[in-house]
Amino acid sequence: MDENKLMDIVNQAVGDFGSLLTGALVVLGDRLDLYRTLAIAGRPLTSAELATQAECAERYVREWLAAQAASGYVTYHGEGRYSLSEEQATAFTDETSPACVIGGFQAMLAATRSVDRLTDTFRTGEGLGWHEHHHDLFNGTERFFRPGYIANLASSWIPALDGVEDKLRRGAKVADVGCGHGASTIILAQQFPASTFVGFDYHQPSIEAARKAAAEAGVADRVSFEVATAKNYPGSGYDLVAFFDCLHDMGDPTGAATHVLSSLTPDGTWMIVEPYANDDVADNFTPVGRVFYSASTLICTPASLSQEVGAALGAQAGEARLGEVVTAGGFTRFRRAAETPFNLVLEARP
Ligand SMILES: C[S@@+](CC[C@H](N)C(=O)[O-])C[C@H]1O[C@@H](n2cnc3c(N)ncnc32)[C@H](O)[C@@H]1O
Repeated sequence: MDENKLMDIVNQAVGDFGSLLTGALVVLGDRLDLYRTLAIAGRPLTSAELATQAECAERYVREWLAAQAASGYVTYHGEGRYSLSEEQATAFTDETSPACVIGGFQAMLAATRSVDRLTDTFRTGEGLGWHEHHHDLFNGTERFFRPGYIANLASSWIPALDGVEDKLRRGAKVADVGCGHGASTIILAQQFPASTFVGFDYHQPSIEAARKAAAEAGVADRVSFEVATAKNYPGSGYDLVAFFDCLHDMGDPTGAATHVLSSLTPDGTWMIVEPYANDDVADNFTPVGRVFYSASTLICTPASLSQEVGAALGAQAGEARLGEVVTAGGFTRFRRAAETPFNLVLEARP
């Protein structure tokens, strides 16, 4: 045995112990307004000052601050005083920034709560539906993805699609399928006021949250949300059907593709946004691929296995495998329209 290699594993594991526990501490800091209170203070605070302002118990806050400083998420100034640097404040409090990591932590921690049930499903092969997870997964996913949609959707992903931006400006009919809390639907509606949008998701609580968000954003006159699956959502003549980070979660993605095709105009577009992945498994052994494969094991693969067919594409399906699904659904044209380090933006045409 190579002792150095063994120590490399142990050292990495120590870092991972810290990561695992830090996830819980970040969620506590978010729920209890500790980050926001530090950011607003604009000067280093003692644990007593932070505890008073955030209405928490000082002894807990003191320990949390030390752990956060050890993580590099809070800055220590000596003499028991802590602050957030501008960068730390952005990452932990600015939910309009693509660098905001709060929602990611909320969603990841929520996914780990299903480890007991997944111990059984690993043995039986049964699925675990999206709706069966802790509710923080739904809210955390929205908070995790929304900044990326704000940064990319209207400015680069839509323009990368053939002719879609013009149609949206003139007034198009759009369906956002698997819309979750409707972040993408609402952002599109705000950017393209001449178009009408309907979001569909099989998860009733998400649809209710989406309706509330649309009303708060002042776009409810042009945006509606309905409970429906990707294979039975109503309507036809859509100019654009969008699937944001959900095709791989579905049990029957080919069935969904067939239904999308039947719901589009002959000149319509299916936009599929999926987690970034290479086609060869070994090419995804990166820090981002590690997160996606892990989330896929806990969330996406069991979600698909819980539905009819159970295709279980996984969150790292890759363009080639997704192209097979699209083609099997009857689409004749398929290409990668855009990408970021985290997303593939795929375009399918009839
Ligand atoms: C990872 S979330 C993405 C949510 C949203 N599109 C976003 O980007 O924030 C996957 C979503 O797909 C939905 N979903 C899964 N299977 C579905 C199906 N067969 N039909 C409709 N929605 C489905 C889930 O309820 C969930 O809201």
